[in-house]
Amino acid sequence: MTDILALRGCRVLRGYLDRSAQETLVDRLRLLLTKAPLFQPVTPRGQPMSVRMSAAGQFGWISDAKGYRYSATHPQGMPWPAIPQQILTLWDALSGVARQPECCLINWYAASARMSLHQDRDESDLTMPVVSISLGDEGLFRIGGTERKGSTESLWLQSGDVLVLEGASRLAYHGVDRIRPGSSTLLPNGGRINLTLRVVT
Ligand code: SIN
Ligand code: FE2
Repeated sequence: MTDILALRGCRVLRGYLDRSAQETLVDRLRLLLTKAPLFQPVTPRGQPMSVRMSAAGQFGWISDAKGYRYSATHPQGMPWPAIPQQILTLWDALSGVARQPECCLINWYAASARMSLHQDRDESDLTMPVVSISLGDEGLFRIGGTERKGSTESLWLQSGDVLVLEGASRLAYHGVDRIRPGSSTLLPNGGRINLTLRVVT
């Protein structure tokens, strides 16, 4: 049974995906990444990000010298692959909205990767939730309020946990301080995958 907790207004569904669902999902992602390979985004200021990214859906999120934005094509020029059905089903069960996600962003964290505090606000309709799925090694997730300087709380996200950023938490600052290498056996070579589902337009 899934344990549900509230953290700064966001819903945390502990162990929402069981091991076999996680394995199926990783198989789908492997295939998808052969079509849309992971790339290393560079911030507009020229800093390479430590996570590697790809995406599925009509849009992927990219960052380069021109800025942060959604793009209908991979940096190598091809359209993004479709979002796997298993992910769409999860969105339908948890999002509480009638629209479908248009982007499934794939973040891959190696042992030393992190994600600094940020808001997700490049989407047109900020009343649509963001659903986030964690796979592989544990990640120390930090979430605060809508002001960058406010207080924050942290939580170790484990493989199979799902988070829904909705309502007041939709614009909460959040990030990942570090991952815990070797904490999961899901990915044979270790690391953490985070999927975030968003309605973009
Ligand atoms: C993100 O905010 O894009 C990633 C969050 C996470 O890795 O859990
Ligand atoms: Fe985010």
